[in-house]
Amino acid sequence: MNTEEKTSRSNKKHKKIIFVVILVLTVAVLADFIWSNTYIEVKKLSGSFKDLPESFDGCKIIHISDFHNEWGLDYYERLADKVNDCGPDYIFVTGDSVDSLFPEVDRSLKLMERLTDICPVYLVLGNHEYALSEEDRTAFVSGAKECGVNVLTNECATVTRGTDSISIVGLDNMVNDAEVLAQAKEDFVILLNHYPEDCNYFNVSAEYAGTHIDIDFTGHAHGGLIKLPFVNGLYAPGQGLFPQYVDGAYDIGGTTLVVSRGTGNSGVTQRFSDPFEIIEYTLEKDK
Ligand SMILES: [Fe+2]
Repeated sequence: MNTEEKTSRSNKKHKKIIFVVILVLTVAVLADFIWSNTYIEVKKLSGSFKDLPESFDGCKIIHISDFHNEWGLDYYERLADKVNDCGPDYIFVTGDSVDSLFPEVDRSLKLMERLTDICPVYLVLGNHEYALSEEDRTAFVSGAKECGVNVLTNECATVTRGTDSISIVGLDNMVNDAEVLAQAKEDFVILLNHYPEDCNYFNVSAEYAGTHIDIDFTGHAHGGLIKLPFVNGLYAPGQGLFPQYVDGAYDIGGTTLVVSRGTGNSGVTQRFSDPFEIIEYTLEKDK
């Protein structure tokens, strides 16, 4: 074999290796893309609290956020089935149940009907519901109430279990937050609020003096949309690039902040290495 033939054979080999590497990477990226935009992970979290009333010890909460009337063959049924399989005591829904760019109110209400068949549901609105037409927002809120959802629009509910009670506060698009929080009657306070970044001022701003939050369930960040090695989320609305609060639980000055990655996509946005999730959160009494 002369030198020319050797060089040609070597070039062909290199091209073959490059082709295989590109093919493997493309398949891996596509597989991750499909997984991130269809699979629903069940993330199990728990929190231990000294002031949790005894009757709520072991209580299981399912936290759903950012459904965005996600499309897909019976996707809402698959989501509701997963929630049902967890056997929750309460379901918290923290906003953006309807997408403002492609609103399908009926699909969101079908999910609510399924959820209320499982256990009591408490829901707050997100920025997307506020961007809906008045007609669509009213249709969603009244439809959700009709099927038994406790819609908390700047309201405080008292939830009783056994001989004990806790407060669940639902904030409504950052209006009069401190006044609403001050209405909590019980010592143990759970907040439902769409925006995780709000926790930065709940504990430091003077207007919140005298208010108290044990757990703050939130969404909105969609997990940061794109996760890469050493990058736990590329972008989140309200937090910008490389957001701080994207998924999981955080201790913010004595408040446990829980951030859901959400169960749907907003408009045409898609995810990478960032699948949909529901959070199964178990309350534990710190004895
Ligand atoms: Fe959202």
